[in-house]
Order: sequence, then C-alpha cells, then structure tokens
Amino acid sequence: MTTFRIAPSILSADFARLGEEVRNVIAAGADIIHFDVMDNHYVPNLTIGPLVCQAIRPHVQAPIDVHLMVKPVDRIIPDFAKAGADIITFHPEASEHIDRTLQLIKDNGCKAGLVFNPATPLHYLDHVMDKLDMILIMSVNPGFGGQSFIDEALKKVALARRRIQDSGRDILLEVDGGIKVENIRAVAEAGADTFVAGSAIFGKPDYQEVIAAMRAELAKVGQ
Ligand code: DX5
Ligand code: ZN
Repeated sequence: MTTFRIAPSILSADFARLGEEVRNVIAAGADIIHFDVMDNHYVPNLTIGPLVCQAIRPHVQAPIDVHLMVKPVDRIIPDFAKAGADIITFHPEASEHIDRTLQLIKDNGCKAGLVFNPATPLHYLDHVMDKLDMILIMSVNPGFGGQSFIDEALKKVALARRRIQDSGRDILLEVDGGIKVENIRAVAEAGADTFVAGSAIFGKPDYQEVIAAMRAELAKVGQ
C-alpha cells in the first residue's frame, strides 16, 4: 500500500510566528515541511532563504523539502544543506547543467529532485532517473499560493508514475499547487504519493481537522 505524505507549504503560514506554525502543523499530522524559495527573477515573487530554513530547523524533526524557484540554482545549494534541508528540488529550466546540479545536491548530503512546471515536458527525466529521490509536478504556475489546480497536471502525474515504476527506483512523486480536500483523492489516484498544500491548510483555523479530512480522502483511494 502506498504511504501518502502531506507537505504543508509554509508560504501560506504566518511568517511572524513561523516556528510555532511549523510545530503546530506537524503536531496536527503533517509529514513534511514544504519550503518555497522564490527570487523575484525566476518567479515574480520573493520569499525566504537559508537563514529562515536554519531558524525553523530546531522546531521540527520532520524533513524540510526545499523547493527552489531561483535562477541560478547552484550557488545557494550548499547554504540550504548547511541550514538543515533534507530534500532540495529545482526547476530544470533554471539550471545550465541539470546533472551537475543534481550531483551537487547529493554531494551536500541532501535528497534531490526535479520540478516540472505545467508546460515543462517530462523528457528532462530521460537520463537522470538514477540521481532522483523526488519528482515534483507543479499543478499551478510557480510564484504564488492560493491558485487553482490545473487539471492537465493529472495526466502528467500518471506519466511520471509510469516512469518511476519502469525505473524500479524509490522516488517520491509530489504534486504542488491548488491541492485541497476536494481534489486530493484525484491527485492520489493519478499516481502521486506526496501532496503540497499551502492555503488549504494554513488558510484554515484548525490544521488537524483539514489534515484529517485529507487523510480520510486518501483512505478512499482505490476503493
Ligand atoms: C507555488 C508554490 C506552492 C504554493 C502552494 O509556487 O510552489 O508550494 O505555496 O500553495 P497552494 O497550496 O495555496 O496552491
Ligand atoms: Zn512549492
């Protein structure tokens, strides 16, 4: 049976109380902290960097999943590894040398992943499957929380799942953008095992209630 993981995106958390927010969301049943890094260059928004990752690190044992929406990518990777990141993902269009960037993440002791924007083809996976620990399919265009899920992403999730199966490797398949209680089951049935949700969790007063509702939907997968 698939282990499903819920990864709240702290983009929608209260940044003035970030330590408390990450503790609360993990206590409410989340598995992974999704950490969105935006540079006002690769994406039209500016968020948080390694100092903030380092600041929240002592607050939770859960893995921190750093989603880099920055260009260039390589220079910042060792800083995030030192700041306590467990998983680092990046967009292939943002790196001049994708294989080198993946290796750099691994050489810094982190798990590595590639992120696919809604219109980015999966062919970037062709020659790097052996270096991947995660594939992240974007179901919105990156840059902002609270956008609507793009249904076309479901087909891409299914294609990515097939590639993972064919590889025989243990690679997480994460989906990011517009995930909520109402659609999480469909995303899981398409083949995802890890679900990023920002506004759907941090936008609600009771994190435990929404995470439990998501898990109840995930329990119906395959029924
Ligand atoms: C978008 C970010 C997402 C975002 C998701 O660029 O990568 O992680 O925070 O937010 P929601 O769940 O609100 O769509
Ligand atoms: Zn993200």
